[in-house]
Amino acid sequence: MDHFNYRNGELYAEDVRVADIADTVGTPFYCYSTATLTRHYTVFDEALAGTDHQVYFAVKANGNIGVLATLARLGAGADIVSIGEMHRAHAAGIPSSKIVFSGVGKTADELRAALAAGVHQINVESLPELHLLSEIAAGMGVDAPVAIRVNPDVDAKTHKKITTGLSENKFGIAWEQAEAVFAEAASLPGIDVVGVAVHIGSQLTDLAPYRAAYTKVRGLVETLRGQGHDIRVVDLGGGLGIPYDAENPPSPADYGAMVKEVTGDLGCQLGFEPGRMICGNAGILVSSVIYVKEGVDRSFLILDAAMNDLIRPAMYEAHHTVVPVREPATGDNMVPVDIVGPICESGDTFAKARMMPRAAAGDLVAFRSAGAYGAVMASTYNGRDLIPEVLVNGAEFSVVAARLKVDDIMSRESVPDWLGAPLPRDVPKEASG
Ligand code: LLP
Repeated sequence: MDHFNYRNGELYAEDVRVADIADTVGTPFYCYSTATLTRHYTVFDEALAGTDHQVYFAVKANGNIGVLATLARLGAGADIVSIGEMHRAHAAGIPSSKIVFSGVGKTADELRAALAAGVHQINVESLPELHLLSEIAAGMGVDAPVAIRVNPDVDAKTHKKITTGLSENKFGIAWEQAEAVFAEAASLPGIDVVGVAVHIGSQLTDLAPYRAAYTKVRGLVETLRGQGHDIRVVDLGGGLGIPYDAENPPSPADYGAMVKEVTGDLGCQLGFEPGRMICGNAGILVSSVIYVKEGVDRSFLILDAAMNDLIRPAMYEAHHTVVPVREPATGDNMVPVDIVGPICESGDTFAKARMMPRAAAGDLVAFRSAGAYGAVMASTYNGRDLIPEVLVNGAEFSVVAARLKVDDIMSRESVPDWLGAPLPRDVPKEASG
């Protein structure tokens, strides 16, 4: 459920006309809904009621500090994968005591900064990382709170680029090596092993792989305790899917019930790292039609949004429902169109043969489910701006990320001295008439 609905024949974000936002900030832009973020966070958190748990929102899904601050007010912590994301979490008011640091390639500088900030937990993913962290923490005279991320070798049955729990994936400690790594960790200075972490992939639409992975983790916790480890934390990762199209992902309530069934009596604090489930359907990408081009055997809706703004269709063949901002009238003729952006490669295609009401240049359209892995994955490819992000709250909205124009981007570039004096710039000719 989200708060982007038609009212009086046009699309609203909560109580704000989407077309009004377009008039204010120009297209394309991302638009997020506070009510939807709040609802999704609350539903997830409530599904875990009765357990000792903490939700760490996966900042990678949407790092906008307005969004993070909204979630922080609800009690969310942050799952970060870089020190850049730690700065974002801090800027949004998420304290270090609610930050978990994940990722396969944390650098020495990042580990040092995370320890200096006093983050709650560092999820270690390899033996060399463990040794480096031990050396740094011991040198700083602190104990690093460590969860070891294990790889349960369970197929999450999701897109191959976002599955992370198979032994062929780069993530986590191989299942066969887990006990030895815990033993090694316990012997190292500067390391306080607090628990086990697991994350098997993203956009999961079935509980079975979760259940398989969590059951394995449960067994591992019992084994490790038998070996003398004081396992206090189990971090169960993120990954719960959302409906983009016809998917029917498990409800948070079903997920919560399964979690309680499998891990309820372990006596551990449970950590969760949801990203997409919280913010995916809480955002839309709004774009204008530049041209409608009638080809020989198809027509193209050429938009001002492109793959640099929303890369998911190009990268994962992802489906995003596209709706006109003006509500189609009943009986409107639907026609198949290829929905494309202006970028100079054929991969810049959002949808093929999508049934849409007839559109004209200047019409606004909205991509649904664009709140997760949308703006965060944007680039400036083809000399394009980074587009604005807007957060709606009831009848008000705020620009929570301003447009970054090509001049701003060029301001970090320079022409090397060895090229000498600048070439004379073209002076625009006087317009005649
Ligand atoms: N925790 C860890 C360790 C992760 O690697 C991820 C996502 C999450 C939590 C959050 O997963 P979520 O609840 O959002 O599924 N760009 C891709 C998704 C990449 C997911 C990467 N890891 C996409 O657009 O589909």
